[in-house]
Amino acid sequence: MKDQIVVIDSGLGGLNIYNTLVEQFPNENYIYVADEAYLPYGTKTKEFLTKRVEALINHFKDSKAIIIACNTASSVLPFMEKQYDNVVGIIELTANYASSINQKGSILVLATNLTIELGEYQKHIKLNNKESIPVKGSDFVTLVENKQTMDDKIYHDEAIKLIENKLLEHLGKFDTFICGCTHFGYLIPYFKEVLGDANYVVSDFVVAESLKTKVVLNKTKSNPTRLVYTTGNKDEFQLKMQSLKMNYKAESIAI
Ligand code: DGL
Repeated sequence: MKDQIVVIDSGLGGLNIYNTLVEQFPNENYIYVADEAYLPYGTKTKEFLTKRVEALINHFKDSKAIIIACNTASSVLPFMEKQYDNVVGIIELTANYASSINQKGSILVLATNLTIELGEYQKHIKLNNKESIPVKGSDFVTLVENKQTMDDKIYHDEAIKLIENKLLEHLGKFDTFICGCTHFGYLIPYFKEVLGDANYVVSDFVVAESLKTKVVLNKTKSNPTRLVYTTGNKDEFQLKMQSLKMNYKAESIAI
């Protein structure tokens, strides 16, 4: 087994989870994989994405843990031919946490089109005897991934317009809002601007809590490694990260 924790997303979203893990468990070696060659995941078919996620997991299968820091990829985990003990999906954990803090009204789930179609959030929220309002939001992924092409004002205005179009009709019906796509953590200030106060739930903290119970984390380590890879164009990914103030050095990986 390799003493490394691998964090996988289609692009920029999972970096929020990666940051939290690095901060909370600094004595681990980390590899982040942004599968930008296949971005976006949320508009792919279940069959295609299942194969892709299986290929990524296979590549890193002898790692200490593989965190699927992507809700869409987590949605297809049940359909893989083989299940792996070291793979951590994020939907059930996030749905359970959101259900535990929901008090009045429903839980709004904004996620990619495929995540909503596959219904894992709706299923786990129902298992907690709570109501969900599922909303398809792959357009928001495109916005976040293209931030580097816009100035702050255009980005802000585009975000507000999308939120008003997709979500304003649900205002007053929920007290808990699941950012059911890791990309959406970047948009919380804009959600708040239009929708006001709510319990905005991201997966970062619940994943970190769960990891503690799943693996033995190192107490010390000299020079732990942090590698950020993309399957796409590394210069482009570097610029995208910079636009979100994620200052990591991107390397290429072919999988
Ligand atoms: N960040 C991913 C998620 O959490 C998906 C974005 C995409 O569509 O590629 O679902």
